[in-house]
Amino acid sequence: MERVNFIIAIDGFSSCGKSTVAKAVAKKLQFVFIDSGAMYRAVTLYFLRHNIDLTDTAEINAALEQIHIDFIPRTDKVCILLNGEDVSEEIRTMQVSEKVSEVSALKEVRHALVKQQQDLGKRRDIVMDGRDIGTTVFPDADLKIFMTASPDVRARRRLTELLAKGESVSIEEIRQNLSHRDHLDSTREESPLRQAEDAIVIDNSDLTQDQQLEIVLSEYEKKK
Ligand code: C5P
Repeated sequence: MERVNFIIAIDGFSSCGKSTVAKAVAKKLQFVFIDSGAMYRAVTLYFLRHNIDLTDTAEINAALEQIHIDFIPRTDKVCILLNGEDVSEEIRTMQVSEKVSEVSALKEVRHALVKQQQDLGKRRDIVMDGRDIGTTVFPDADLKIFMTASPDVRARRRLTELLAKGESVSIEEIRQNLSHRDHLDSTREESPLRQAEDAIVIDNSDLTQDQQLEIVLSEYEKKK
């Protein structure tokens, strides 16, 4: 059966501003915004809290069965709930960032979350951002964007974000975390981060948020 809803997939490296653009596009088009990275982060937080052994498949599967993730739209943001608890802030800490790519590389985790993401995009118009949305989750997405930005711009953006939240972190720690995550995300066996052949590439190092929004909206106009 042919799909009737419109799917926009936004992929790219860590801290490229994917979520910011995805959110703005969703608001403008009145689509549902889904941050797939937040789902991997919520699973990682659960694994950290429960000391899940990442080499024990049975333990991983049992943990995944206990995890329920919801997105709740509020006036100015979308909150993520892990088993009913709002973890929107806690999933952004360095502690989670340091572990998330390892957890995301696990086959069991990917299968569970990809399936949930596909279900979320079944009947609604959505904008989903992540690493494998245009390649694995929705290979038939109507519009695919691949975002990049220079490593320096990305590290500075992340630093500003974390300092604003009161985390004490250096730019060097952030640089290392970003390049470590990019490496793990691009080289893992299950749905690695790569640019879909039919994706439109946006390097946003020197673009404002409004300019990025405009580019995506004009691509949407061509495809809709
Ligand atoms: O997007 P964000 O940086 O919050 O994602 C956190 C991590 O989740 C990424 O570094 C990656 O390891 C993982 N991820 C993934 N697949 C996605 C989205 C995120 O593996 N679709």
